[in-house]
Amino acid sequence: MHRCLAVSACLLTVAAAAGEASLREMAAKRKFLVGAAVAIGPLVNETEYQDTLKREFNICVPENAFKMAGLRPARDKFDFSQADKLAEFAAANNIKLRGHTLVWHQSVPKWLSDGKFSRDEALQIMKEHITTVLQHFKGKVYAWDVVNEAIHDKKPYAIRDDSFWGKTIGADYVEKAFEFARAADPNIILYYNEYGAEGMGGKSDAVYELVKKLREKKLVDGVGWQCHVPCGWKPGDAHAQNAERLGKLGVELAITELDFAIKQPTTPEKLQAQADSYRDTLKFCLSQPAFKALLTWGFTDKHSWIPGFSKGKNGDALVFDAQYKPKPAYGAMIEALKQ
Ligand code: XIL
Repeated sequence: MHRCLAVSACLLTVAAAAGEASLREMAAKRKFLVGAAVAIGPLVNETEYQDTLKREFNICVPENAFKMAGLRPARDKFDFSQADKLAEFAAANNIKLRGHTLVWHQSVPKWLSDGKFSRDEALQIMKEHITTVLQHFKGKVYAWDVVNEAIHDKKPYAIRDDSFWGKTIGADYVEKAFEFARAADPNIILYYNEYGAEGMGGKSDAVYELVKKLREKKLVDGVGWQCHVPCGWKPGDAHAQNAERLGKLGVELAITELDFAIKQPTTPEKLQAQADSYRDTLKFCLSQPAFKALLTWGFTDKHSWIPGFSKGKNGDALVFDAQYKPKPAYGAMIEALKQ
């Protein structure tokens, strides 16, 4: 690491040790939720991971542990053993928990995709899944991503018809999932979560129309913007416009999976640009009344999906480095919360 950045990271660590307010303390003052995705392996095995998580965040989300393939190894078998580790940790440390995700085109178990099920059977399996999972986590989960990434990337931005759910049930699988979730637990906040629909454009128009339709039926309460974006990205007028039109539908908003991937190699300049991105994104959320939360997809560069996903081309996307030292992005988030 560049010497001056190493020194500033070190000063931040010292400041944290000297009792300077953490992200969660600062966020609480703003009545805002700042959080991160959590992987169960390090949660169980690494003290520094646990310490950072409970010190810095007032909301968390499982990176993979609540997805269908893990929770439902067979049609008649649910396995909550991994998921419960996070639910227990969150409750013990007064950290809110988001559920992610009930229905997605990925993480479909093989028994399901290969099962040659009819539409009615698939709907029944979806209903069983949503009902059992929501009841299991009743009172423990603050909001659920009921459906994740249902809209195609390309024109005409229709509901995906190439996934198990779309192929077997049809485009109404999205609405059905929300109906089942609402019936299973009328008290939790139901989100539609999507990527690449943060600003204005064809895909975000499609999200808007979907959410409007669901909202008219009182089936949705929130919209998640994933925000897996490159270092240097910043929200602008188009994002404000999109947030405002969604807000007018009466839904709350959250950035649910933020990370700013740095094209390798990482340099001090890129770390500074990343800090600016984190600062401006958090400031943007704080300036928009509909935004209730910002979560990053992981929190330490030691455990991030970015290097694997980008085949090593990108990395260092998060706020703490691989040694759990705060990066310039951390100070930038604190600064945004101070304003
Ligand atoms: C990713 C996880 O980070 C990986 O560990 C896993 O192999 C695949 O899924 N959008 C989402 C998340 O909604 O669930 C994805 O998480 C990242 C993209």
